Amino acid sequence: MKRALVTGASRGIGSALAKRLAKRGYEVWVAGRNPATLEMEVGEIETAGGRAHAFVLDVSRPEEAEERVRALDAEVGGLDLVIANAGIGGRTLPVAEQTLAQARTIFETNVMGALATLLPVIPGMVARGSGHIVGVSSLAGEMPLPAAADYGTSKAALSFFLESAAMDLIPRGVLVTDVRPGFVRTELTAKNQFKMPFLVELKDAAEIIDRGIERGRRIVRFPMPLTTAITASRLLPTVLRNRIVNAKRPV
Ligand SMILES: NC(=O)c1ccc[n+]([C@@H]2O[C@H](COP(=O)([O-])OP(=O)(O)OC[C@H]3O[C@@H](n4cnc5c(N)ncnc54)[C@H](OP(=O)(O)O)[C@@H]3O)[C@@H](O)[C@H]2O)c1
Repeated sequence: MKRALVTGASRGIGSALAKRLAKRGYEVWVAGRNPATLEMEVGEIETAGGRAHAFVLDVSRPEEAEERVRALDAEVGGLDLVIANAGIGGRTLPVAEQTLAQARTIFETNVMGALATLLPVIPGMVARGSGHIVGVSSLAGEMPLPAAADYGTSKAALSFFLESAAMDLIPRGVLVTDVRPGFVRTELTAKNQFKMPFLVELKDAAEIIDRGIERGRRIVRFPMPLTTAITASRLLPTVLRNRIVNAKRPV
């Protein structure tokens, strides 16, 4: 039986992915900060016939998280699939109102937390010549927005890491997938006060991501109307692109 670790699996995208992986026959470690919520997730997976374990993990304490993931990897004899999904959104603030403390909180979880999840399993995967690491990044990392500089920067950093890691790891038999969703209906986006273009339902997002992982895709970008708009906007001169973005800014 293949073994997977999914961080941020107590709700939202991580929870939906963990359930799909269990249905596909993976033994799943569902990670998050709240033991009671994790036990409920495990219960739901087991009721549906899957195998799961609660794994308490706070990725915003990267050194501790790295140690815990390394120990789990050793204990189970090597995880086959590791999904660094845990992430936070922060407040949408114009950059003049953003603080170093907020940026640090976001980077600690979205960048250092993801690296703390992925780095400790890579040497084992390379030694075995197999395995799969996945990072849940965002289309926000491709498209600079005036009110989301810290979140966008954290996701751009994660995608850049995955891009570099793929060059290194794919020739050594380890798959790397960079997931870049647009807006997905979860608790993270529920607080957004602005109109979210092409909002995707959680179930559909989980299906797209899971299919991408199953096929070993390098990058999973969705939804298509938004990815097309972003790709097209990158072809515009910066001055024109910034004028369009500012005309539509949410704050
Ligand atoms: N929703 C979207 O539109 C969207 C779009 C693009 C990318 N994403 C990315 O997708 C990922 C999942 O987002 P979501 O929408 O499913 O968010 P969500 O519903 O808010 O769920 C976030 C998950 O991350 C966990 N988490 C947060 N901080 C953590 C920490 N320090 N340590 C461990 N776990 C932590 C939460 O668990 P606990 O609080 O129980 O610990 C929860 O399970 C994030 O990386 C997000 O940036 C989301």
